[in-house]
Parts: sequence; C-alpha cells; structure tokens
Amino acid sequence: MLRSDLKKANKLKIYTYPDPVLRQKARPVEEVDDEIRQLARDMLYTMYEAPGIGLAANQVGELRRIIVFDRNPRENGKAPCVLINPEIIEAEGQVTTEEACLSVVDFCADVKRKARVRVKGLDLDGNEIHLDAEGLLAVCLQHEIDHLDGILFIDHLSALKRALYKKKLKKKLKKSSLD
Ligand code: NI
Repeated sequence: MLRSDLKKANKLKIYTYPDPVLRQKARPVEEVDDEIRQLARDMLYTMYEAPGIGLAANQVGELRRIIVFDRNPRENGKAPCVLINPEIIEAEGQVTTEEACLSVVDFCADVKRKARVRVKGLDLDGNEIHLDAEGLLAVCLQHEIDHLDGILFIDHLSALKRALYKKKLKKKLKKSSLD
C-alpha cells in the first residue's frame, strides 16, 4: 500500500491497558471487503499519527484478525503494510529487544522473542502472502500477532517486572484523577 492511499483515512481511538478489549481474542476475517480495507487504512493512519511501527485491530477496539505495520520500521513512514488473519508458520533463533506498545503507556522493557519468522496472511485483495522477517520487523510481527490473542508484551516479563508496571500505572491513574 502507498502512503498516499491513507489520505481518506480516519484517526481511531487507541485503547490502553487495562481495557478489557486488549485481553480478548480477535476473530478471523471471513471476507476482505471494503469495510475491512477502510479499517486497515484507518489503522495505518492511526499508527503513523501515534507514531508507532505496528498496530493490531484489538487496539482500536475491533476484534478482528488484522495487523498493520511498517515493513521498514527503522525508517518509519516508508512502507505501510497490512496482514489479515496473520499466522506465524516458521520461527527460529532468539533475540532480546526493548519493546513498547501504544496500548501500554509510559513503559518499555526487554522481551525475548524469536529472531526470524515466516508469516502468512491475506493482503487487501484477499490474496495469500508470505513474509520473511528478521530483526525489528520480526519482533514487531510477533508483538502484533500476540495482540490478536489478547496477549501484551508485559505478559512476557517476569512477575516482578509486571508488578512494578502495575504499581506505576496505579500511581499515575490516581494522580490524573486528582488533577
Ligand atoms: Ni502493542
């Protein structure tokens, strides 16, 4: 998809932790129609506006198996991409990367994941495509596909680190309700 295709896109609300929609499993898309194409465009637009390098439909409150990302995440804004019903079909190696998430505000942490993945899914014309990824793109794809199953990157952390985040968030929520 070209960046110029995003002209008619809308900015969507991004849901943040602990909203329950982030914990639900998204259902497969049965037909790639205009409604799905518009949702994907809106998600890409929302991702670039945030800015972020990946976004899953759960994060905008839509429980459908759609992810959007930038294929060259180091040069954000160059290569918008959509995968519908994405599935990891091969994975190997191990890599630790500092991750963050548009739905987990003010927090980042090291997460261990597969270093290389092969992912299959449908494009916006409903054709099956395969994508081989390594480095940051491989991490991004695993992170986004996790979202579709209600999994957040903080679930991959130790219980201690996760507790620290929850404590920080509680403090922040308390503070903002007093402001
Ligand atoms: Ni995320």
